[in-house]
Amino acid sequence: GSGLGLAMARRFLSLGARVVIAGRSPERLEEAARELDAGDALLTHPTDVRDYGQVEALVRATVDRFGGVDILVNNAAGNFLAATEDLSPNGFHAIVATVLYGTFYATLAAGRLMIERGGGSILNILTTYAWTGSAFVVPSAAAKAGVLAMTRSLAVEWAAYGIRVNAIAPGPFPTEGAWSRLMPTAELEAEARARIPMGRFGRPEELADLAAFLVSDAAPFINGECVTIDGGAWLASGGTFAHLVRHDRKELKELFAKMRGR
Ligand code: HXC
Repeated sequence: GSGLGLAMARRFLSLGARVVIAGRSPERLEEAARELDAGDALLTHPTDVRDYGQVEALVRATVDRFGGVDILVNNAAGNFLAATEDLSPNGFHAIVATVLYGTFYATLAAGRLMIERGGGSILNILTTYAWTGSAFVVPSAAAKAGVLAMTRSLAVEWAAYGIRVNAIAPGPFPTEGAWSRLMPTAELEAEARARIPMGRFGRPEELADLAAFLVSDAAPFINGECVTIDGGAWLASGGTFAHLVRHDRKELKELFAKMRGR
């Protein structure tokens, strides 16, 4: 109903898909429905993905309305910045239950249906720290790494059923949900932006275009892949000399020339 999920819903609708959007807040879903203005092509269904019964009800409602499920996007997430030693067991649980269990629950409920119907496409929204890990977001990093493993495992296991399972690893995209929890000050936001070689954050429509491609018939042989969309940020974080890109390029080149003796 918001952020990247809303951007994907908008793109899928523009391409002729019939879309169900789910989230915990009925008000937010209604607001999104008004904004999308898609008539009968859109169904909203309040759902907490941490509750398997609610996820099953979501899939049932989808079948009742549209006759089946061809595509599942697991985008629901939870996150906050915290020093790990200050986390409570329930704080860890709140994130892992949403990200890892929520993705599994939806994958199980929709996947069983896809198996019956002879195929489908599943897309999991991760983050680039699924493979590097990240300080101060340990529950999210652990859960997203689990979803990456699930993506790769099921891509192999369910290929025989005609189901493709892929993922997208976004870098930072400014959305209200993420920013209110992960970007406490303008200074820290500027610092995060400076780490991105392309010099800017992602735009939700850019992720939506990638998502539309991966779930569609335009990508029939892409299976088990995780596509990064981060302006080169995570690669720069590991390169020993990557920080040099933040310096003036002309001055850098002069420095290199001096070192070479020219
Ligand atoms: C420490 C916290 C905390 C915080 C909550 N908790 N916020 N602990 N620091 N900032 C603890 C609580 O004290 C409680 O534990 C437990 O977590 C559950 O809190 P509730 O508020 O009861 O949970 P709930 O209402 O279910 O809210 C879930 C939530 C919230 C995850 C905490 O932030 C949320 O609803 N988030 C959904 C949207 C979201 O996070 N979007 C960002 C996704 S960005 P105790 O022990 O006190 O009971 C993303 C990728 C980012 O995932 C990639 C960036 C590059």
